[in-house]
Amino acid sequence: MNFASDNTAGVAPEILAALARANAAQAAMPYGNDDVTRRLTARFCEIFEREVAVFPVATGTAANALALSLVTPPYGAIFTTASSHIHNDECGAPEFFTGGAKLLPLPGRDGKTGPAELQAAYDAAGVGAVHHTPPAAVSLTNITEAGTVYSAEETAAIGAFCRRRKLAFHLDGARFANAVAATGATPAELTWKAGVDLLSFGATKNGCMAAEAVIAFNPELAASLGYRRKRAGHLFSKMRFLSAQLDAYLEDGLWLKMARHANAQMRRLHKGLAGLNRVEVLHPVEANMMFARLPRAMTEALIAGGYFFYVMDETARPRCRFVTAFSSRAAQVDGLLALARSHGAGPEKPPPKRR
Ligand SMILES: Cc1ncc(COP(=O)(O)O)c(C=O)c1O
Repeated sequence: MNFASDNTAGVAPEILAALARANAAQAAMPYGNDDVTRRLTARFCEIFEREVAVFPVATGTAANALALSLVTPPYGAIFTTASSHIHNDECGAPEFFTGGAKLLPLPGRDGKTGPAELQAAYDAAGVGAVHHTPPAAVSLTNITEAGTVYSAEETAAIGAFCRRRKLAFHLDGARFANAVAATGATPAELTWKAGVDLLSFGATKNGCMAAEAVIAFNPELAASLGYRRKRAGHLFSKMRFLSAQLDAYLEDGLWLKMARHANAQMRRLHKGLAGLNRVEVLHPVEANMMFARLPRAMTEALIAGGYFFYVMDETARPRCRFVTAFSSRAAQVDGLLALARSHGAGPEKPPPKRR
């Protein structure tokens, strides 16, 4: 019963079946010159309602770093949020793949930022002075690292700012399916129609084994991406196995069905936990992720009961992160809630003494 991350979930049966089919096919050509990879681009074009360039890679870090390398010179700067994955969790890969660009993290609220904050940061960036890194791109995450969601309108407002300032707009969509499912907006409305140039399209967290893709809404922008991906070691010789995952993921709306399910399980968990004594939900819960402070006794009881989730500090009411996945079951959520309810009362327990 793992609510720590959607990465802890397994692989959707439909994706495994697609891998088995790809395996059964005799002698497909390597390095993406196979039928499934060719079909994949057509599928993405249909989903995004326009011509796109598609570059499958195996990790979200590779997708983000490679995408940003297309639009940021080594001396450039990338605006992002302080909580972003590219800033905190990619071991400097965006800096490395851009050849040294600087990330400029903005404080943000509930994991989000907006045109006013970006404008203020732009004004403070010393544009034009040779001493400062000129802003080249904005990179945001949808859904955010706080579990909140940018609507199509919010994305479009940021896109308009990017256009005014001639900045490229990259979206980290590690959980893009959850954002589409949460907003009800179309994939196009959440991206290129709102001014997004490049999307890291995530799939691993939502039922794939290991498959993500860089999507370029202006294929010219991606002219060098084939070479960059090869240099980064992400041009798979057996590319068809990445493509087969993404192909099955997109077929018949499987990706959105799974994301809707994950989001619905989170709504259930949120509704149950939010009503409990001394549980404080920290950000709006809009997709499949929730941050909340729980009484320490409740946190310990849940862990002892076999429920996994991230405990992010050691206070009297620890900050905890819960994530649901395509495979989360209502009975698991209800089991967690029942245990939480039975440990919700009683006096506040002090944090453990540090030695
Ligand atoms: C917001 C976000 N972006 C990108 C990633 C991709 O990470 P990885 O390189 O582990 O696939 C993750 C994974 O945790 C994530 O949460």
